[in-house]
Amino acid sequence: LESPEHRMIQAHELLRKFYHHLLVNTKEGQEALEYLLERGFTRQTIDEFQIGYSLPSWDFTVKFLEKRGFSLKEMESSGLIIKKEDSNSYFDRFRNRIMFPLEDEKGRTVAFSGRAIQPDEQPKYLNSPETPIFHKSTVLYHFHKARTFIRQKDEVVLFEGFADVISATTADVKNSVGTMGTSLTPQHIQSLKRITDKVVICFDSDKAGMEAANRASVALIQSGFQVKIALMPDRMDPDDYIKKYGGEKFRVEVIQSSLTRMSFLSYFYRQGKNLQEEGDRLTYIEKMIGEISHIESPVEQELYVKSLSDEFNIQMDTLIGQVEKVRKSNP
Ligand code: GTP
Ligand code: MN
Ligand code: MN
Ligand code: MN
Ligand code: MN
Repeated sequence: LESPEHRMIQAHELLRKFYHHLLVNTKEGQEALEYLLERGFTRQTIDEFQIGYSLPSWDFTVKFLEKRGFSLKEMESSGLIIKKEDSNSYFDRFRNRIMFPLEDEKGRTVAFSGRAIQPDEQPKYLNSPETPIFHKSTVLYHFHKARTFIRQKDEVVLFEGFADVISATTADVKNSVGTMGTSLTPQHIQSLKRITDKVVICFDSDKAGMEAANRASVALIQSGFQVKIALMPDRMDPDDYIKKYGGEKFRVEVIQSSLTRMSFLSYFYRQGKNLQEEGDRLTYIEKMIGEISHIESPVEQELYVKSLSDEFNIQMDTLIGQVEKVRKSNP
């Protein structure tokens, strides 16, 4: 006899194959396919990531799975269909979306994320809900396939988005996983820690992405990871960058040029400031002193105090005094 979880996975595997078929072989999927090709996804990538398309229908999934022996209850608890309020009827969760299958650590499809095709449609990405087979906080996109490469390189590259992970693999950065827009969880950190202790965080280079990168770096450093943070110009995301500049430039100028957390912060706190102006200069120095005051290692601390001292022509003792003051007021 099959467990309920196994049946849910079966339903997902069947749909994954059919969504993919709809995207690549049918007239109904043509607009979605054109959208993807226009964005620079190749047919090979679309196959490799099993990207698909869900029809603009309220009951396609219901009928498709009913025909294959699944009950409405099973479909609902899999998150694939939704029960209408105050009625006994159900409708498909995913309609007219580009479908990204989400896999568990064994490579089994356990959920979907559906991307809107029209630019104004909300939400941009619609995910499966929490179910017995899908816990968003534990899943990293592409983890199953990336695992071998992460071990080989003894390093993982962490992205925000689906498109970023997919583009990175085409740029030959195959040790890539995605947080799918959520913050990095203790469970994510644990799964990564089992196979490596080096991370390159390559989030979007907009303000939200840089703030998220900083938060992720704190959590990862606390868990004993060696962390680097990658940056791209003009608030780009990795997918934009790779499509614009190509894989070689991405590997050399983004991944291999990624910064330590303090160098990243030094860049981040300069954003939108003019350090020729006294007010901005003081704010910047204050921010950096705040960060330095959290550093445990005296050697590291001195290193950063020294560079502030050199850059702004302030005595080491003055800076060290300020670091101590901040530390005492804010232990
Ligand atoms: P594209 O526009 O397709 O390139 O998406 P993106 O990956 O650049 O999107 P963005 O940087 O806005 O978000 C990063 C990731 O956050 C996405 O890949 C999704 O995993 C997730 N995300 C973005 N928008 C939404 C949303 O509306 N709902 C949910 N649940 N997740 C989202
Ligand atoms: Mn969960
Ligand atoms: Mn973003
Ligand atoms: Mn993005
Ligand atoms: Mn993007």
